[in-house]
Amino acid sequence: MPEFRAPRGTRDLLPVDRPVWERLTSLAGDLARRYGYAGIETPMFEQTAVFERGVGAVTDIVEKELFRIQPRTEESEAWSLRPEATAGIVRAYVQHGMRTLPQPVRVQYVGPMFRYDRPQAGRYRQFWQWDVEAIGDAGPGIDAEIIELGHRFYTEAGLANVQVLLNSIGDPGCRPAYVARLREYFERHRSELPGLELARLASNPLRLLDSKDPDMAALIAGAPRIVDHLCDACREHFDGVRAHLDALGVPVRIEPSLVRGLDYYTRTAFEYYREGAEGQQQALGGGGRYDGLVELLGGRPTPGIGFALGLDRVVLALAEEGIAAPEPVRPAAFVASADPADSVGRLRVATELRRAGIAARADLGTRRLGRQLEQASREGAHFAVILGDELRDGMVQLRDLRAGTQHAVPLDELARSIQRGESTHHHG
Ligand code: HAM
Repeated sequence: MPEFRAPRGTRDLLPVDRPVWERLTSLAGDLARRYGYAGIETPMFEQTAVFERGVGAVTDIVEKELFRIQPRTEESEAWSLRPEATAGIVRAYVQHGMRTLPQPVRVQYVGPMFRYDRPQAGRYRQFWQWDVEAIGDAGPGIDAEIIELGHRFYTEAGLANVQVLLNSIGDPGCRPAYVARLREYFERHRSELPGLELARLASNPLRLLDSKDPDMAALIAGAPRIVDHLCDACREHFDGVRAHLDALGVPVRIEPSLVRGLDYYTRTAFEYYREGAEGQQQALGGGGRYDGLVELLGGRPTPGIGFALGLDRVVLALAEEGIAAPEPVRPAAFVASADPADSVGRLRVATELRRAGIAARADLGTRRLGRQLEQASREGAHFAVILGDELRDGMVQLRDLRAGTQHAVPLDELARSIQRGESTHHHG
């Protein structure tokens, strides 16, 4: 047993793990380009108040899961590692006066988030999200653009059976009356409530609908539903979102008990699930509208909507569906030489190929030629470049390891020969 280990709830993503992550990251980047979402990056920690006010003081994420940074004695500010990206991005939107830019401001980011969660499969203390936000458009068209974009990510990643669970959770106009009904309902069932939920009944009854406690499931199923208590404006918005999504052919299921675990949401709330894996812990992603958040963090009233997809869970889902991870990149050329001592020659030729844009490897040890060529095959190289006596005349041997052919090539034409061979011969 090694003395030091990665902290509980975190993982090392080793070279064998990385190709699938790189594919997902580049898919996110490609979708961002197609849909017009620019990159943004905010600090991994913020003033704790950004999360307390943004995400909400009475939420699991802030009450139980926030990684608080131990303040140095002389510093008064309390910081925390970000549990999610939205609050920080909205803080940046306000701080940099981004309301003067064309609205909505469309931004996106892939990066690690931190929650002091109880670790289990698909639930980590450091995990990665693709976070996408559109700030400054009241919808409902932008709601549909965002929801469809998230859905497309799963489809293009290879998950064909992801559906959208959709709800509206009203706005500050109609939600209070609903929350009062909800409180009344749970008050009547007071004796059945677990301790934590009892405490929340007074402070934030909506959170009870989001409870992961199995004892709560039946109570939640019998609770009044917010969709039955929307005001006209919220109802109209909800209908508009559904009409746009229908027109795009996005598979949507209305889920009246979906309230999300963060306080900033208004109106549209959604989550992505694989069909048949709708358990509470299995959301592949989620998001919603947050029309009050900009103001809450000190800006002018500005609507916004976004989502975050859990990349760790997407990687797990791809593995469960048996979708093969991409192969690691194979070198086009492996430079070997007859003289085991000539590591200078091998490195020089490999360096020239690399300068020409070719993925090249060379054995920098002192193994004999046969061992070098074995290594070339093991790494899946397309060509072996063999340096021998004819190097004096500026010639090398170029062996096509796939075709099993070999011929002499002038050194100054080597890069072009390899490039030509690479483009006519597809990777097998
Ligand atoms: P969230 O639902 O808290 O929303 O997280 C989004 C996704 O992140 C989840 O659906 C899940 O896939 C993944 N996730 C959350 N916690 C963990 C964990 N401990 N381990 C692994 N994956 C996890 C948000 O974070 C909002 N900021 C989304 C949003 C953006 N709303 C508007 N804009």
